[in-house]
Amino acid sequence: MVSIKTVAVLGGSGNLGPAIITELLSAGFSVTGITREGSTTTNSTAAAAAAHKFPDAVTVKSVDYGSFDALKAAFANQDAVVSVVGTAAIGAQQVAIDAAVAAGVKRFIPSEFGIHTRKVRGTPIGKILAGKIAVVDSLQAIVKETEGFSWTGLSTGLFFDWGLHFSGLGVINLKDKTATVIDSGDEKWQASTLAQVGRAVAGILKHPDETANKYLATASFNLSQNELIQLVEELTGSKWPVTRVASADLQKAGEEKLAAGDYRAFVDFLRAHNSADGAGNGLPEEESANKLIGLPYEDLRASVEAWLKLEGAL
Ligand SMILES: NC(=O)c1ccc[n+]([C@@H]2O[C@H](COP(=O)([O-])OP(=O)(O)OC[C@H]3O[C@@H](n4cnc5c(N)ncnc54)[C@H](OP(=O)(O)O)[C@@H]3O)[C@@H](O)[C@H]2O)c1
Repeated sequence: MVSIKTVAVLGGSGNLGPAIITELLSAGFSVTGITREGSTTTNSTAAAAAAHKFPDAVTVKSVDYGSFDALKAAFANQDAVVSVVGTAAIGAQQVAIDAAVAAGVKRFIPSEFGIHTRKVRGTPIGKILAGKIAVVDSLQAIVKETEGFSWTGLSTGLFFDWGLHFSGLGVINLKDKTATVIDSGDEKWQASTLAQVGRAVAGILKHPDETANKYLATASFNLSQNELIQLVEELTGSKWPVTRVASADLQKAGEEKLAAGDYRAFVDFLRAHNSADGAGNGLPEEESANKLIGLPYEDLRASVEAWLKLEGAL
């Protein structure tokens, strides 16, 4: 029976990392935050609560991500490493994995936290996510030869609260009180709040045996564009005019951008991936690991209401 108590978090200072660190601490793990040498992220006491700072309870280590020896030393006595590095650093995880193995780390969670990358190999969006796919391939190969080392991948779908704040998740346009719907709007998609992703990571590490060497998917909600619009209309008491977009047009626009080397194609592909009629990329309960790791779903209406209040729309 594996027991995990100490957790090193790589890249914990970005969009997602703080929520993971908060939930790991509240689940009772001892947390070390690893930042890149030269990064301005610290746990300075006065500004502990400020964005991009670590809480005081976190031990912070500044490490050269390119150095196997430095990472190995930083991972000494850590039971698990959770990587939350951003897109630019996905490839840099390979040195961290090798260093984690050498340091005797028991579990590595790679920076996935989005669409289920095991399902998109060879597709246009899979080409953009090739770095993430290669990291999980490598973990799968390493565990075959390494006693005591294991990994867990986690697909969470879209970051719900983060995505609503930045773009209305491409569906709700708060400024104009309008909505944009891809195809019929009935296709279900997977979404998680940042806090829920943090709780999922803590849940994985609290259930190390059940989650070893698996690629899991969890969610706060499995929802459709139409359900989101209906809730916004109910809560605001007004009708939101809808503009329709065809998923085939998004896919074509993405392919044109990708052919020109423009990786903003990802957004077009992602929207079609989630919301095209028949895409099948939602997370029905029978495919979800929420139950396995003791993670309750969240209340969609309450989350949308909280967002509308936060944005001053209620
Ligand atoms: N599902 C979704 O809707 C969604 C949305 C956004 C992101 N994601 C995924 O969530 C994960 C984390 O994303 P994020 O947005 O939180 O990442 P981020 O904020 O872009 O970066 C996270 C941290 O990575 C480190 N970092 C940044 N650039 C680096 C580089 N070139 N080399 C090494 N380290 C670097 C930095 O930490 P230090 O400065 O402390 O070193 C940074 O704070 C990724 O896998 C991303 O694809 C999913």
